[in-house]
Amino acid sequence: MADIVVGVIGFGTVGTGVVKILLNNRSMLEQRTGCRVELKRIVDLDTTTDRGVSVPNGMLTDTISTILDDNEINTVVELIGGENPAKKFIEAALTAGKNVITSNKEVIAKHGKAFTAIAKKHGCTILYEAAVGGGIPVLHAIRNSLSANKIEKVFGIVNGTTNFILSKMSETGADFGETLKEAQALGYAEANPENDVEGYDARYKLAILASLAFRCTVNYKDIYCEGITNISSEDIEAANQFGYAIKMLAMGINHKDAIQLRVHPVMVEKEHPLATVGDAFNAIYIQGDSLGESMLYGRGAGELPTASAVVGDIMNLAFRNDSAFSRDTDFALNERKIMSINDCFTSFFIRCIVDDAPGVLAKIANIFAKNEVSIQGLQQIDADAGTATITIITHQVKEEKMRSALKEIEGLSSVQKIASVIRVGFGDETL
Ligand SMILES: NC(=O)c1ccc[n+]([C@@H]2O[C@H](COP(=O)([O-])OP(=O)(O)OC[C@H]3O[C@@H](n4cnc5c(N)ncnc54)[C@H](OP(=O)(O)O)[C@@H]3O)[C@@H](O)[C@H]2O)c1
Repeated sequence: MADIVVGVIGFGTVGTGVVKILLNNRSMLEQRTGCRVELKRIVDLDTTTDRGVSVPNGMLTDTISTILDDNEINTVVELIGGENPAKKFIEAALTAGKNVITSNKEVIAKHGKAFTAIAKKHGCTILYEAAVGGGIPVLHAIRNSLSANKIEKVFGIVNGTTNFILSKMSETGADFGETLKEAQALGYAEANPENDVEGYDARYKLAILASLAFRCTVNYKDIYCEGITNISSEDIEAANQFGYAIKMLAMGINHKDAIQLRVHPVMVEKEHPLATVGDAFNAIYIQGDSLGESMLYGRGAGELPTASAVVGDIMNLAFRNDSAFSRDTDFALNERKIMSINDCFTSFFIRCIVDDAPGVLAKIANIFAKNEVSIQGLQQIDADAGTATITIITHQVKEEKMRSALKEIEGLSSVQKIASVIRVGFGDETL
């Protein structure tokens, strides 16, 4: 077997974990692969900060050419994150015939297809297991172990920050703002949390998951995306009373003529395995036509869990595990239509603040009936000082009908505001 000589770009959280595993476990890695697995170079803009791991003199530099121009380095590990300059480094490495491993969901969601083509042209490969689900080997499972299945559904809790926030809100009854601050203090959320709480991170991950699972190329911009910033402690409490937990899901459903892709909060029945995924954990629920249902669960982030997936990719290179390679099967050419959110069917939870006056409920029920929305459950709570809160759960309805009903309800003089609209369950699962 050819030796694996590694250059790591980015000595931050994940980079430190990768360096620790490559240096500390080298003899085990070499025993398992039967070849040399050598970390030769680390490049980072900052070469002075103590990362808690001692590296041999001269290994750490700030000069990217020491990796890209070194003919002995045949495996480049990109761990700096973001689109640029990661894209430039990956392209340069692949063009030079070096294999690339990355944990960067953004650059793969945006350029995975182009990278795959460059890799094919230059006889190398690009692997990115850590880009989705951190340490959970979900991409390998989809490409390899589940390749005998037509994958029908992929529903993932793929963002640890939002899962931590929603789980904490449910445990403590605290509101979103307070819980976000706690997540930031504990290092679960960044100072600018937009990418996580608005769902953008989950959207990149769903683009990658769906591209592999449904054998097509998904443009992340075509995925409907809604964050968790409007979820209140009242919603969590109401969900609980109706028998649901609120989870931020990245959802893909493989219909015959189109695929449904959506990222948004969902009220999940408490009995469903996804409802029990707490803290900052990730889980990906997959349904295949032969396997049926399965769920992969584990740490979706963190220094060593993420590094575990990155080094696992290095090991796959050494094993010459072709089934793990991206090549032609990732970001395939198959054109799949992505359904508009307006055409998706799902149940809804609605929380309205209304005047505490006779006839309001009847007016709302009339508008729902006119728009073919049928009500599954209803509660009127908190009548106080002339104001009442009404919570409603509907049966499944086409999204555009629900939107038109909500617009009419908003126009009623006795409705002060529609405080929440949250989708319930997984929606139209007819394949
Ligand atoms: N952290 C996780 O748990 C996790 C989990 C799954 C996936 N990921 C992904 O893994 C990637 C890395 O994440 P991370 O948390 O390890 O980030 P990080 O801690 O910010 O580390 C990135 C490192 O790269 C360095 N860097 C930035 N631009 C560079 C350049 N042009 N040349 C050389 N070095 C450069 C940074 O230096 P400065 O600090 O000086 O800018 C920093 O040390 C991201 O794509 C992220 O989405 C992370």
